[in-house]
Amino acid sequence: MQLSDFPVTPVQQSRLSQVDFDNLGFGAIFCDHMFSMEFADGAWRNPEILPYQAIPLEPGVAMLHYGQTVFDGYKAFRGVDADVRIFRPEMNARRLHDSCRRLCIPAMGVDEMRDIMINATRQLIELDQDWIPSRWGQSLYIRPLVIGTEATLEVRAADSYRFLIMTSPVGSYFTNLEKGVSLRVEDRFTRAASIGGLGAAKTAANYAASLLPGYESRQQGFDQVLWLDGNEHRYVEEVGAMNMFFKIGGKVVTPPLGGSILPGVVRDSVLTLLDDWGMPAEERRIGIDEVVDAFRAGEVEEMFGAGTAAVICPVASIGYKDEVFALASASPGELTQRLYDEITGIQYGKLPDRYDWTVRVSVSGRASTG
Ligand SMILES: Cc1ncc(COP(=O)(O)O)c(C=O)c1O
Repeated sequence: MQLSDFPVTPVQQSRLSQVDFDNLGFGAIFCDHMFSMEFADGAWRNPEILPYQAIPLEPGVAMLHYGQTVFDGYKAFRGVDADVRIFRPEMNARRLHDSCRRLCIPAMGVDEMRDIMINATRQLIELDQDWIPSRWGQSLYIRPLVIGTEATLEVRAADSYRFLIMTSPVGSYFTNLEKGVSLRVEDRFTRAASIGGLGAAKTAANYAASLLPGYESRQQGFDQVLWLDGNEHRYVEEVGAMNMFFKIGGKVVTPPLGGSILPGVVRDSVLTLLDDWGMPAEERRIGIDEVVDAFRAGEVEEMFGAGTAAVICPVASIGYKDEVFALASASPGELTQRLYDEITGIQYGKLPDRYDWTVRVSVSGRASTG
């Protein structure tokens, strides 16, 4: 499918001049255009690019009541050579496809989903290229969303859907990246069921379940929640929007994908790099008591989260029950920094893309300041 395959209705008046690129925040501003496609009468149809706008939804739309909706998130970066690079979008397309299947949304084929997503993203980037920020750490966040649009109060899969892709210029998700974030271990509430639940799908319910514990964590002075398994509240799962890694006694460990955590794209990238660097991570269950014991023994060397929003985010401390376990040094550990430098280096075109991770879009205009 070629770029020109999607018809475009351009905006009459761009909103770009209203954007303060010094204060982007995360996901509060949307670019001029969005991609849209519909599912009706048993088929996906009408792919097009439109001005970003409100969409009509009846109050009786079942998705608003029962949550039949999935989304994903990936980024495009303005490189040091001015080209824009989309980071591993084919993995997000596969995950969106898998999320659709789990939520009983009629999925396109994986290849079709990938082609539509990548072409729509390219076309949006070309149209809204002046929206792509050029400072180091800034990027264009891309958010595909699929929602059921049928108005019915019956609890069943909808018979009509809308697939949208919107884009948003963003700064860093966390503001205190250098000194690292603090996590509170949640041992009362559960993000996703351990077996057979929705945890591996990127769907609203998992994030809804996280809101109250997230609020309570911030009330107690922590940045994010560290989730434990839903069965015993014993094994580390993941953070709000990141997969979790520990370096303990010289070894890197991360929880395995078992259906309850999100299969992160950055997680996969970290595992690939660590393999290549001759320090493969152990993918295994990590009890929170093991982490606590390692802290007491002085063996926890580094902790970091991996996710699209923050890329690699150093974790400085963990609060569990009434204790806070903090790393000795406030600055990111050597491995954390190396992974951050390598992945962002590839994303911004500073380092060679040895794994063919990026999809390049040539646009006119300024290079990143990275
Ligand atoms: C719950 C959760 N875990 C992990 C991640 C990290 O995934 P990725 O690296 O694909 O952004 C995210 C963000 O997408 C997330 O929302």
